[in-house]
Amino acid sequence: MRTQVAIIGAGPAGLTLAHLLARVGIESVVLESRSREYVENRVRAGVLEHGTVDLLTELGLAERLHREGLRHHGIELRFNGEPHRIDITGLTGGRSIWVYGQREVVKDLINARQAAGAPLHFEAEVTAIEGIDGPRPTVRCRDAQGNEHTLEADFVAGCDGYHGPSRQAMPAGLVREFVHDYPFGWVGILAQVAPSTEELIYACTPRGFALHSLRSPQISRLYVQCERDDVIENWSDRRIWDELHARFASPGWSLQEGPILEKSVTPMRSFVAEPMRSGRLFLAGDAAHIVPPTGAKGLNLAVADVLVLSRALEAFYATGDESLMDTYSETCLRRVWKVQHFSWWMTTLLHTFPDTDAVQQRLQLAHLDYVTSSEAAATSLAEQYAGLPLN
Ligand code: APR
Ligand code: PHB
Repeated sequence: MRTQVAIIGAGPAGLTLAHLLARVGIESVVLESRSREYVENRVRAGVLEHGTVDLLTELGLAERLHREGLRHHGIELRFNGEPHRIDITGLTGGRSIWVYGQREVVKDLINARQAAGAPLHFEAEVTAIEGIDGPRPTVRCRDAQGNEHTLEADFVAGCDGYHGPSRQAMPAGLVREFVHDYPFGWVGILAQVAPSTEELIYACTPRGFALHSLRSPQISRLYVQCERDDVIENWSDRRIWDELHARFASPGWSLQEGPILEKSVTPMRSFVAEPMRSGRLFLAGDAAHIVPPTGAKGLNLAVADVLVLSRALEAFYATGDESLMDTYSETCLRRVWKVQHFSWWMTTLLHTFPDTDAVQQRLQLAHLDYVTSSEAAATSLAEQYAGLPLN
């Protein structure tokens, strides 16, 4: 097999890249180790930035998103049991965010790729990436029957998530990894009950953080801060609801309960690998960076990476110009670190740390009071939440 760009991984990064390249006539083959069903049913975050939605719309991939997604114009920060709204649209000159599950995005991208008859192989596990320093890198993969295949390409896009083989294929000693683990995690649930709120609620309380999000008018998505290394077995449905009631408590407001459809623990980590390119191998999305979920930036950041990559490849194939490939890593990392900072900042603003004492509690409340009462501070939050410009 031979193609122009070998894309490893059919998550948001790999699939979006495949569509971006197809639009400008660049061929690619997407290799994904898991089954289609698995990839489409992974529960992940669900907030799309303004620019992400614009890009998917431009690519003709947002028809269902516009029909079924929920456009939001603000979020609530809740502390001291009181609601404080951040008017995202008002503070950003008309920008908004969309609530639409990552798995719905992935389903739409897979359907469109298959409808176009373009190559996308599931249960094709990449086992080796070779020759990235030469003009013809190769990718070896194993199919569901255990047969080995080799794909030759001009370039390899490592869109294979944190655990994928791409980062490991970078030359030894080249990559510097920056890691920060937070001393807590999130218990996340999907519940079959109408959301008790129209806009997302981020609650900061002495018992810890909680988040009320949603997936549809019938399905709520909720999170509670838990211990680091906590296990879901510690969290009966009753305990989860009790904690949610306690953390969201606010006069005149109540939380509706419903059957819990799924529950799991998410660890909280910040991770960046630098650089994001070596020779003809480019890392994108979770393969190169992870953000803690506060602010829901993971998918959006993956999309920003592959937009930069597609422009670089487009320039190369059009004129042989390699300058955008040469600046790929630097261009991406500027955004990556800003988004890392925002995700860390929101995490710190809202969570209880093991060493949080009375002074830190007061400081946190003062910070929240400032963010929700100063237009300058609220604008900074709104602009980053809606997403920094994609250019
Ligand atoms: N061969 C082929 N595919 C692989 C291999 C391999 N050896 N290893 C991993 N993969 C696949 C995974 O199965 C997964 O489907 O790569 C894909 C990576 O997708 P994601 O993990 O979704 O990462 P990314 O596309 O960068 O999306 C970033 O999605 O993962 C969330 O939290 C993340 O929201 C963020 C966003
Ligand atoms: C989600 O809906 O899963 C979600 C929303 C906002 C966040 C994180 C997760 O900040």
